[in-house]
Amino acid sequence: MVSSLKYAVSSSGVKTRPGASPHTNNPNLMANENKISELLEKREKAKLGGGEDRIRSQHKKGKYTARERIEKLLDEGSFEEYDMFVTHRCTDFGLENELYLGDGVVTGRGTIDGRVVFVFSQDFTVFGGSLSETFARKICKIMDQAIKVGAPVIGINDSGGARIQEGVNSLAGYAEIFMRNIAASGVVPQISAIFGPCAGGAVYSPALTDFVVMSENSSYMFVTGPKVTKTVTGEDISTEDLGGASIHSTKSGVAHFRSSNEDEGIMLIRKLLEYLPQNNLEDPIATECTDPIDRLEDSLNEIVPANPNQPYDVKDVIYRIVDDQQFLEVHQYYAKNIVVGFAKFNGMPCGIVANQPNFLAGVLDIEASRKAARFVRFCDAFNIPIITLVDVPGFLPGSNQEYGGIIIHGAKLLFAYGEATVPKITITLRKSYGGAHDVMGCKQLRADMNYAWPSAEIAVMGPKGAIEILEGKKIGEIQDAREKVKYVGEKELEYKNKFANPYDAAKYGYIDDVIEPRNTRFRIIRALQTLATKKDSLPPKKHNNIPL
Ligand code: HXC
Repeated sequence: MVSSLKYAVSSSGVKTRPGASPHTNNPNLMANENKISELLEKREKAKLGGGEDRIRSQHKKGKYTARERIEKLLDEGSFEEYDMFVTHRCTDFGLENELYLGDGVVTGRGTIDGRVVFVFSQDFTVFGGSLSETFARKICKIMDQAIKVGAPVIGINDSGGARIQEGVNSLAGYAEIFMRNIAASGVVPQISAIFGPCAGGAVYSPALTDFVVMSENSSYMFVTGPKVTKTVTGEDISTEDLGGASIHSTKSGVAHFRSSNEDEGIMLIRKLLEYLPQNNLEDPIATECTDPIDRLEDSLNEIVPANPNQPYDVKDVIYRIVDDQQFLEVHQYYAKNIVVGFAKFNGMPCGIVANQPNFLAGVLDIEASRKAARFVRFCDAFNIPIITLVDVPGFLPGSNQEYGGIIIHGAKLLFAYGEATVPKITITLRKSYGGAHDVMGCKQLRADMNYAWPSAEIAVMGPKGAIEILEGKKIGEIQDAREKVKYVGEKELEYKNKFANPYDAAKYGYIDDVIEPRNTRFRIIRALQTLATKKDSLPPKKHNNIPL
């Protein structure tokens, strides 16, 4: 066994062995001492980035510096910095006289909950965090290593974009990063935090990553800023309204998470990583579970309203079935008619996709389809089982949806479920109508276990719509109003008796079992245990052609 020396950490971060005396006549030590002092001085200088004034200005804006952010993100003392002494090579516009150690981005590796991650953090105090050729190289270096060792990459963005003085070298630097984002996609998780400006083509690196976190009131993202927008289109719009955290977490869906400040954003990233594996060849880490796996939730037996048109909150179902009521919702404020996020079952991380009857009756529209499709694909890429809770009245009708391409967007979700080879468990809580039934993880899309609650209704459409189509002509011919109501009622009842239950689907084996709602947690966990060794594949191909 190797014995370890205990080292004390000095304020510079360098470890010194206790007992080593600086007062010695040893000539080797004296010669080296000067060199070591030079190193420590350089380190201190690098840590100041663009200088104390600019650090003060950063703090005044309510923002942390690049290094403070890394310190908060990583396990204490785990950060090992790379390329601290890199400087830019630009000699135009007098830049040769303005050199900063590190050149505006802090890069390196460390751990989060003991697991290795690679990180870069743009330093706004150096040329506004703008990206130079060498800055890009530093980021590429850690990305290359992250791909090789199979560890997540976390990028903290706070930058004025391309370093204007470096011209085309800066643009090339961005493209080098984009290329690595693409190479890393589906190989290691990539997470972007936006804690300041992120504009122009710079937005595309975060957009290529798996998750984007934006902090409120201090971050913004847009391809074209308010000034150019005004010149080109005449539209007068503020930075916040064009690309603030609120807009991107509600309207565009660019941001998966919105935090009220940087601390909260950093905690969110740490939390998110708990559910993810290090890379696509590993499974997510199962943790010890103290929540009984056979916990019965009697309240679930009464959660679905008797009236099929009455809403309920599907998150009440989610919180009752997952471990310790812990659910990390992704895209919480965007396309609220579908809920997606991470939770654990018996300690095993899973992705949950659930229609939300509480918002637009849980209908599938363009935004909901895109949101869920991306989430399902992420889970599949990183070996995370998918639990689907279905209560969907169908696709949203109307010209807005058709002109916007609901056909293509709905197909994305269909495609995502069909191609996914991870364990897939679908539970139909109530409505499962029409095309939306097929899309939401039906048996034929290779779901492994399809359960239904007794309240499930699985049909081509709801009774009212069905009777209008099937009996419209006959109903029109009935003159007497009371006769008409009676006839419609009888026909609707007949239809309901046939389809407003799970048994017709169960009769054909499309539903594997009808389960008591209160047993749902236990049934999911038992299915997950069985499916832990599942293997499935698709025919070999270069790549698929998902309808984009
Ligand atoms: C070089 C830059 C810079 C840039 C800011 N600085 N942006 N230096 N290149 N792109 C410098 C400033 O000169 C200043 O230096 C310091 O950073 C802080 O900037 P301020 O303007 O004082 O800060 P603030 O008022 O907070 O405004 C921040 C800002 C603004 C909104 C980001 O600086 C700005 O609009 N910058 C230009 C943004 C831009 O147009 N970038 C190019 C986008 S196109 P001193 O020495 O005074 O501290 C692009 C293409 C990418 O990025 C394409 C990829 C494919």
